[in-house]
Amino acid sequence: MAGRTLKKYLVLSAATLLICGFLYQYRASSCQEPQSGLTEFVGPERFVIINKEGEYRKFTYNRLLPFIFIGGMPRSGTTLLRVMLDAHPEIRCGEETRVIPRILGMRQQWMRSPFESNRLKEAGITSNVLDSAIAAFIMEIIVKHGFPSPRLCNKDPFTLRSAVYLKQLFPNSKFVFMIRDGRAVVHSIITRKVTITGFDLKDPQLGPSVCLPLHYEKLVLNPKFWLQKLLSFLDVPWNDSVLNHERFINKPGGISLSKLERSTDQVIKPVNIEALSKWVGQFPPDVIQDMPMIAPMLTVLGYDPNANPPDYGKPDSMVLQNMKELENNKELWKRKETEMIEMRENIRRSLVKPKNKDESDNEIIQSLDSERKSTDQQSNR
Ligand SMILES: *[C@@H]1O[C@H](CO)[C@@H](O)[C@H](O)[C@H]1NC(C)=O
Repeated sequence: MAGRTLKKYLVLSAATLLICGFLYQYRASSCQEPQSGLTEFVGPERFVIINKEGEYRKFTYNRLLPFIFIGGMPRSGTTLLRVMLDAHPEIRCGEETRVIPRILGMRQQWMRSPFESNRLKEAGITSNVLDSAIAAFIMEIIVKHGFPSPRLCNKDPFTLRSAVYLKQLFPNSKFVFMIRDGRAVVHSIITRKVTITGFDLKDPQLGPSVCLPLHYEKLVLNPKFWLQKLLSFLDVPWNDSVLNHERFINKPGGISLSKLERSTDQVIKPVNIEALSKWVGQFPPDVIQDMPMIAPMLTVLGYDPNANPPDYGKPDSMVLQNMKELENNKELWKRKETEMIEMRENIRRSLVKPKNKDESDNEIIQSLDSERKSTDQQSNR
């Protein structure tokens, strides 16, 4: 029974991965950058006043700031990446905002409907008007949900569905697209009850100078190499602090964590490879056997569908040391993790009415289903 449900998820998730892969392939095949040409509509400067120990400083912002957007499938390591960047003295990402992907989704709906988009145009709400309003909304959230910083970053996994549009709104922005072995993502989604909807097929067309694909496995095995690559892609000077993000949690100017985000209990630990093979042994034999057919995107993204687990590579000595430290203080880390999960569940229980497991399962399937329908409709046009 559990095996069947798992298989159902796997098939659905394979579909999502396929969409994800399209996005990736498109990116790789067409290095064409989107037209921006919106300079004339970049609005007036906005500013906030920072009071740092009695010293006042003005932080100005507008659509030309080089914002950083991190995205990918949920559970593919986007939180780890954002806390690593948050540890850098010149970067601030912060918690998931949730409202940014939603407003982007709303706009997509308005644009998708010919009637609605014409109705808006008739009302004088041209795409330029809408763009400047949406850009202002997004900027206000990014800038004000945390402390200002030379480089502001946003991590809401699904914002990358609208990467092309974001690039039009913010012509100097950059994007990091996290990729992870689909089998681990599926396992992690099931065990951590995250709901998912797919990526938009229409997204693509971001060149390599604008969008960097980053593999989760590589990042945790060889953090220094990949973080150096990432920071250089972002034009941010190197700082060792990104290798020790755990030291900056809840420190001033460091990493602010949400008590309610599910990934929080994972990123309090130093960078490690515990999650690389957690999925091994969790899939039924028939699924393992049919893996290349069920999940064709694995191969496209560079993973071996027949290896359980694949050889992801060799960890750096720093990572091995972290693993030793986690092993030596197993009880302590387990307790920290449990405490965080309990705290989150307590808050959640006090705020939301309980749902049984079947309902939350259905939610995942329904959201995938509606996403599939809307993608079908698009491709039928
Ligand atoms: C890294 O950041 C810290 C804290 O801001 C700073 O003191 C240090 O000089 C930086 N190191 C490098 C190599 O830039």
